[in-house]
Amino acid sequence: MAAMRTPVVLVTGAGGEVGHGLVGRLAGAGHAVITIDVAPLGAEVSCHVRRAFTGSVTDRSLLERILAEFDVRFVFHLAALLSTRAEFTPVAAHEVNVEGTLGLLEFAQHQGASHGEAVTVVYPSSIAVYGLPDLETKTAAGAVAEDAWNVPITMYGCNKLYCELLGRYYAKHYKQLTTDVIRRVDFRCVRFPGVISAATRPSGGTSDYAPEMVHAAARGEPYDCFVRPDTRIPFITMPDAIDALLALAAAPRDRLSRTAYNVRAFSPTAEELAALTVDAFPRAVVRWAADPKRQRIVDSWPADVNDDAARHDWGFSPRYDVRAAFAEYLVPGIRELYRT
Ligand code: SER
Repeated sequence: MAAMRTPVVLVTGAGGEVGHGLVGRLAGAGHAVITIDVAPLGAEVSCHVRRAFTGSVTDRSLLERILAEFDVRFVFHLAALLSTRAEFTPVAAHEVNVEGTLGLLEFAQHQGASHGEAVTVVYPSSIAVYGLPDLETKTAAGAVAEDAWNVPITMYGCNKLYCELLGRYYAKHYKQLTTDVIRRVDFRCVRFPGVISAATRPSGGTSDYAPEMVHAAARGEPYDCFVRPDTRIPFITMPDAIDALLALAAAPRDRLSRTAYNVRAFSPTAEELAALTVDAFPRAVVRWAADPKRQRIVDSWPADVNDDAARHDWGFSPRYDVRAAFAEYLVPGIRELYRT
């Protein structure tokens, strides 16, 4: 039976911001892609897809159907509720972010057992796994390494941190007391900072003040920024984020010294982002309207992260610094998006 199934790459949450770019890149590299998303995919994504399943990653019967029909070698598990949305619906966030991931890891183990090869599960985690107690500590901490300050204050951060550990468990210790088990999950995780995309409108994230500011400027709308001007966290552009997922997926197993890797490209203050936005769109208006509750979340995230391990182990090297991000990616890309 296994020989008759089609070898594919599975992307969950394919209709989201990361999936939007990733699916096209995978298809362009010659992969057959199947997807799961709770909503039907837009034409710009579905045109790259062999089969699009509309449903939830928490639906075990859907995963069983996919297991029976396809030979999955790679899973990019992108489906999640982001940090702002998750604070309003923490139980739903746990269901999607944690139980969904557990189901996908079981699915990958069963897939691997059925075709006898490892299944690479690529998982985007987040800067939200960190939790710094106050601004003084944040300033003193500087660029934080992967294993420091893993005490998140958000539901989303708790979910992501636990799923990093679940993935590591499936890869290294799954059923360790059972004698005849062969572990088939090769779990690899990129911990993203804030991600800025020119191609899609942001929604549901607490780092979204950066992309929202630029998208509002391109639409000619004033923007009420929900953090203080001096707020600093790291960011990366979407093309560099997608390159990171693909590079980690392709890295030789024996080069990887960890399961979760920080990545980052630049770490501006909100005020610096506003100045670059006004340079690019001279009529842009950014008003400072900090929301103390969302501010508290961003203040608990590090001002920067240390990505030495990603650079060393699998050659992470982002193309865009903050100036190139605006000049070469965001401004032309966002102008294109809103040109009607
Ligand atoms: N961008 C994400 C969020 O704000 C952080 O991972 O939720």
